[in-house]
Amino acid sequence: MKEIPADRFDEKKGAQKTPSTPGWKARIPAHIASLPPYVPGKPIETVEKEYGLLRAVKLASNENPLGPSPFAVNAVQQALSSVHRYPDGSGKALIDALSSALHLPADRFILGNGSDEIIALLTRAFLGPNDRAVMPKPAFLMYEITVRSVNAVPVDVPLKDLNVDLEAMRDRIDADTRMVFLNNPHNPTGSFIPKREFERFLARIPSGVIVVVDEAYIEYVRDPDCLDSLNCAGEESPVVTLRTFSKAYGLAGLRIGYGVMPSEMAAILNRIRAPFNTNSLAQVAAIAALKDPGFVEKTVTLVHRELDFLFRAIGDLGLTVFPTQANYFLIDVRQSADALFQRLLAEGVIVRSMTAYGYPEYIRVSVGLHEENVRLVEALKRCV
Ligand SMILES: Cc1ncc(COP(=O)(O)O)c(C=O)c1O
Repeated sequence: MKEIPADRFDEKKGAQKTPSTPGWKARIPAHIASLPPYVPGKPIETVEKEYGLLRAVKLASNENPLGPSPFAVNAVQQALSSVHRYPDGSGKALIDALSSALHLPADRFILGNGSDEIIALLTRAFLGPNDRAVMPKPAFLMYEITVRSVNAVPVDVPLKDLNVDLEAMRDRIDADTRMVFLNNPHNPTGSFIPKREFERFLARIPSGVIVVVDEAYIEYVRDPDCLDSLNCAGEESPVVTLRTFSKAYGLAGLRIGYGVMPSEMAAILNRIRAPFNTNSLAQVAAIAALKDPGFVEKTVTLVHRELDFLFRAIGDLGLTVFPTQANYFLIDVRQSADALFQRLLAEGVIVRSMTAYGYPEYIRVSVGLHEENVRLVEALKRCV
């Protein structure tokens, strides 16, 4: 029989002590302990190892299939020998580059370690316990997680036919509402917010409510009716636009995004962020990527061409695909999305099951290179 170590033996009971909860665990605030973890797309290396594969294809995180802009790679290589220095904490050169590219004053920008960080800064700065933040459901999971992490209350408004229901969202705004999250194009559905609808919505927003419009995928939009929230932003406007270099610019691994908002709001966020929240390599890469608009154009052209290919090929398999304005789309696979996700993994194709988003029979697929998309179609043929 295995001996019980002395420190775990309860002499009175003559048996092993019941393990006690460590003190720090008992003190975790309930709103933190109950947070759901964010589950990212599986990394390629993990899938290759788990399934003994050589060449897995990742179509799960809406990344740029062409990689980063060569301008950005070159800039990072040049900057590597200076990484013993702290970055410019204000990110001045990048903010100036954004300011001149978007024709907006520099003091209305804030940089983040990915646009994720700006979502977190906004909630920390402007939401307190029991304040409410209205958001579509499903949506990018970080809205809910960050709102709950400051003990504020997410108010979910279901999508209507995969579209954000602005009217229903407006109806859910009450005296305790401080923030609204919108996503244009919407993740995970790929639907968009029409300009006119947004203008009507904005006109009815009570003063004191901040409207965050996350436009991580705006570069891919084809529909001319789609909102560009920068056109509604201004010193007097409650609109905050979030953008990122992670998607069409191909810099997801470097973590760099930005927000545009009234200058006084940006000043508040600047006070609470970490002093060096964006790193020097990300800053130079983003500046270089802004000087390479041809790369974004090439990416967008590829994604549009491949979307057309995928819609035809997947439609031919008898599956329903949903229209998208982004570089990903939903497929109704009419069976368990989790089970299909596993079967596709075994084929070396990583997609996203939408079960966690409330669609147990949908998967979300990011557009890849042509050969990767062909791999997906072939794998779907075998698996569905
Ligand atoms: C809608 C949406 N917003 C924000 C992000 C986060 O982007 P970043 O890499 O800039 O943090 C993502 C990433 O998947 C996203 O899908």
